[in-house]
Amino acid sequence: MSNFFDELQVGNLTLDNRIIYAPMTRSRANDAGVQPAFAAEYYRQRVSAGLIITEATNVSPMAKGYIRTPGIYTEDQIEAWREVVKAVHAKGSKIFMQIFHTGRIALPDFLPEGIEKPVAPSAVKAEGQNYTDEGMKNFVEPRELETNEVKKIVQKFATAAKNAIEAGFDGVELHGANGYLVQQFLATNTNGRTDEYGGSIENRARFLLETLDAMIAEIGNERTGLRLSPGGEFNDIKEDDAAELYDYVIKELNKRELAYLHIGTFDQNKNWHPVLRPTYEGTYFAGVGFDKESGENLLAENGADAIVYGKLFLANPDLPKRFKIDAELNEWDESTFYSPGVEGYIDYPTLEEAKAVEK
Ligand SMILES: Cc1cc2nc3c(=O)[nH]c(=O)nc-3n(C[C@H](O)[C@H](O)[C@H](O)COP(=O)(O)O)c2cc1C
Repeated sequence: MSNFFDELQVGNLTLDNRIIYAPMTRSRANDAGVQPAFAAEYYRQRVSAGLIITEATNVSPMAKGYIRTPGIYTEDQIEAWREVVKAVHAKGSKIFMQIFHTGRIALPDFLPEGIEKPVAPSAVKAEGQNYTDEGMKNFVEPRELETNEVKKIVQKFATAAKNAIEAGFDGVELHGANGYLVQQFLATNTNGRTDEYGGSIENRARFLLETLDAMIAEIGNERTGLRLSPGGEFNDIKEDDAAELYDYVIKELNKRELAYLHIGTFDQNKNWHPVLRPTYEGTYFAGVGFDKESGENLLAENGADAIVYGKLFLANPDLPKRFKIDAELNEWDESTFYSPGVEGYIDYPTLEEAKAVEK
């Protein structure tokens, strides 16, 4: 049993509290995937989190599925991230980078010149649309990866993890959730492969586990975290055997002693925390849909080691303080979640700033 303001051991780090800033894409980078200087200010404003997890960051040019998302595969990208890390560390806080590959979710608009199709475990198009500067566009049919290409992508994740550590990050979270490449391998509706990466649960989990092992080899298990969204249907995912699949995955994860496992599924009704928490032996972060009370309650009943807050932390840079003194909360503005520039990004007031304006 614990509360928000108990310390927490994560790998070799000691977090000040158990209120975690959720990974959130904010689409402020330039076309080369380089963060602007004001991204450092955004993350600096949120240093009172026990741990900050950054927005999902592309491991390669083919990983990019969303407008103005940052990368971690060029020198300029690494350099810009270094400023973010410096700003966070200057305040004594901790920060992990979330890395991803969007697989079939990438529109050709975001891929390198001349490439018409994104890549995926199988040539199965996602239902739905994605935002571009020219308006919403339908997802497209991806190209099925060859077996040797899959192995190369595993290495891209390992290199990205190494680059993140070079930029100064305390660790790296693999994004295995929300219908991106890792979950496209896990799920039954997106993986029809007949090689060692498809078919049985062991085979569908192979890409996830090989990627984790490659990251661990590069940066160490104590600096490697993982997000999963069991049963999640976001981005047109269907996992027909989710209960058995995640039971197997959790048992495999137990052998690896990661920094933490972050579970957060949206777009469905089942609550996975009571299912997975008892079988996972390491540090467990629970996310999605928590308010102060439900987070406090889950910690009190030992249902998680820490609670991950998304939109509340986006809109309240000083969320832990507001929880501590039961203060009012700012509301988030969806219209600026992914808009370019500083508006709706670094202008959410802290309590002190709000008070100064009132005077
Ligand atoms: C603007 C926005 C961007 C997001 N981007 C990411 C992301 O890059 N990676 C990720 O794992 N989840 C992402 N999410 C999901 C959040 O991490 C979180 O799971 C979700 O907001 C639900 O938690 P909440 O109810 O506390 O907001 C995003 C959510 C929002 C609102």
